[in-house]
Amino acid sequence: MINKIRKIAINTGGGDAPGLNAVIRSVVISALNRGWECVGIRDGYNGLMKPEEYPEGGLIPLTRKAVRGITHLGGTILGTTNKGNPLKYPTAGPDGKLYEKDRSGELMAAFKKSGIDALIALGGDGSLGIANVLAEKGLRVIGVPKTIDNDLDKTVITFGFDTAVSFATECIDRLHSTAEAHRRVMVVEVMGRYAGWIALNVGVSGNADAILIPEIPYDINKVAAALKERPKRGKNYAIVVVAEGAKPRGGTVSVVGKELGRAEKLGGAGERVAKELEPLTGKECRTVVLGHLLRGGHPTTFDRLISLRFGAAAVRALEEGKSGVMVALDPPTVRYVPLKDATSRMKTVPLDCDTVLTARDLGISFGD
Ligand code: F6P
Repeated sequence: MINKIRKIAINTGGGDAPGLNAVIRSVVISALNRGWECVGIRDGYNGLMKPEEYPEGGLIPLTRKAVRGITHLGGTILGTTNKGNPLKYPTAGPDGKLYEKDRSGELMAAFKKSGIDALIALGGDGSLGIANVLAEKGLRVIGVPKTIDNDLDKTVITFGFDTAVSFATECIDRLHSTAEAHRRVMVVEVMGRYAGWIALNVGVSGNADAILIPEIPYDINKVAAALKERPKRGKNYAIVVVAEGAKPRGGTVSVVGKELGRAEKLGGAGERVAKELEPLTGKECRTVVLGHLLRGGHPTTFDRLISLRFGAAAVRALEEGKSGVMVALDPPTVRYVPLKDATSRMKTVPLDCDTVLTARDLGISFGD
């Protein structure tokens, strides 16, 4: 016998992605239409873990009015954080130093105290991994796959990815003319963490000359050799798209920092490539880091639609008594997959996928 749902919570964790607000609206309207009360947890789980930091309350009542007119807005009305992992919460030890502590027990108690019957968690692999632990501890949880990186397993696509790729492609379209005017090599670094989905899709759509992705460690000499071929075919400039997680063969990912309780911060991959390419190609190489620009702005129509579909599907899943699952896109429909399966491995670019083959057929170099 499944307990009746009266009140659900929604939270957004990790890096923001266009479409979060559309999911929130879809969940809220679908839930209110079933007579359920909705609250939003501020900043991941912080609204519940540290209510003292929110004088106005760590939980936001989500009424129809609260979600009116937000479908097309970037960001998240709930706030998010990638510092508040309850499984690795930076907590002061007896020596005053900060340590990572599992505080999921306290979090479960806070859910209970707030009278929340179920959680709809909007997140990437990190946030949904946390959601999975909460589900295993007995909370009713449905996950919704969010990330511009598209590296979450068991779903064809995550929301936010299409907006990031569309915007980055538009940026590359603009770089072609200036690169050509100056006969330069423009190296464009894009986000994506340890997966090359953004770089690959942007590079192919934007007619790049080389695409460097984490799944194919590159040899800089091979990249340079490919670029040197271009002038023979009448092209005196080049565009190189570099995933932030790209690494040279036998080398490592370019990391700029690591803080307690957080994932390592990637950066510098594009600059590293540009510095090495300049002497090898004899051309001026300039770097553009698109970075957080890919996370901002309005979601594309595709992202809006899948966000609305994911939100409504998450509520239907709760109504059907499901828990510990994530809504996944499996065109033409959505289905439910265990959160555990979605978060146990990262979805990377298969080397034989047709987008990689297309790039190769078009003469784009992967530096391999
Ligand atoms: O949302 C995922 C992501 O965009 C990664 O591609 C990137 O490495 C990371 O977030 C950066 O996040 P932040 O700068 O917010 O720590």
